[in-house]
Amino acid sequence: MIEVHTAKDIQKLAKNYRKKGKTIGFVPTMGFLHEGHMSLVKKARKDNDIVVMSIFVNPMQFGPGEDYDAYPRDLERDRTLAEEGGVDVLFTPGAEEMYQQESTVIVNVKKRTDVLCGRSREGHFDGVATVLTKLFNLTSPTRVYFGMKDAQQVAVVDGLLNDFFMDIELIPVDTMREDDGLAKSSRNVNLSASERSEAPALYQALQQGARLIREGERNPDAIKKEIRTLLEKTSGVIDYADIYSYPDLETMETLSGKIIIAVAVQFSKARLIDNIIVNIPLDQKEDL
Ligand code: PAF
Repeated sequence: MIEVHTAKDIQKLAKNYRKKGKTIGFVPTMGFLHEGHMSLVKKARKDNDIVVMSIFVNPMQFGPGEDYDAYPRDLERDRTLAEEGGVDVLFTPGAEEMYQQESTVIVNVKKRTDVLCGRSREGHFDGVATVLTKLFNLTSPTRVYFGMKDAQQVAVVDGLLNDFFMDIELIPVDTMREDDGLAKSSRNVNLSASERSEAPALYQALQQGARLIREGERNPDAIKKEIRTLLEKTSGVIDYADIYSYPDLETMETLSGKIIIAVAVQFSKARLIDNIIVNIPLDQKEDL
């Protein structure tokens, strides 16, 4: 595995690979790697000649009072995991490398951000889209890999690639789950023992939502009500239990097409999020 720290080096390296006709799978991360990240690497390894991973805790996507300084970091361990997982090039820039001057241009995400996690994190997705634009320009990826656990981020990246005609294929990768259905996350370690036993309720509530849809329910409010009832049985505080079209993240009166059911619950020391995507077959009239 090669490790590079500068924008100039990664750009030169990536351009050379592409010139030689190699495909590049890019996995952007903020480090402190876990099984979720490694599943992205595994998929990228399968699909591409070269796998590039970046580890960069992006200050621009943290708001005032958020945990930029406290964000967990362990580069030594990450290096080992990346190498074992089959990463060819690890890009580990410092903040002064990625933001060399006061920004002249930033990417302002206009849609898909005022709901779900974006509602309480103003400017977060501008930071994500700006750093990803920089990283995509540096790593010349053929394909980019993102976990569906952050489905809103995937929707924003989809918009970024489409709006700016970026010739990059977006590969969303399914959420990894524990045996009891709880979505894997580094935050799960912050659950107390009793909270951990309650936490599978998030996925169970999502599944109940999907079940209602399968049984013919098309009213989002009825489904959200039932999901909330299940989540209220936990000791956590519900941040949201919402249903939108996906990836547009627009409110719907009657459910149809591709939709997302998403929940967020705040436990004492961990805020858990989860979602499922459901494809509702259009009826014949809508199909025409
Ligand atoms: O999902 C993340 O870890 C970050 O938002 C990303 C995509 C690496 C951009 O900083």
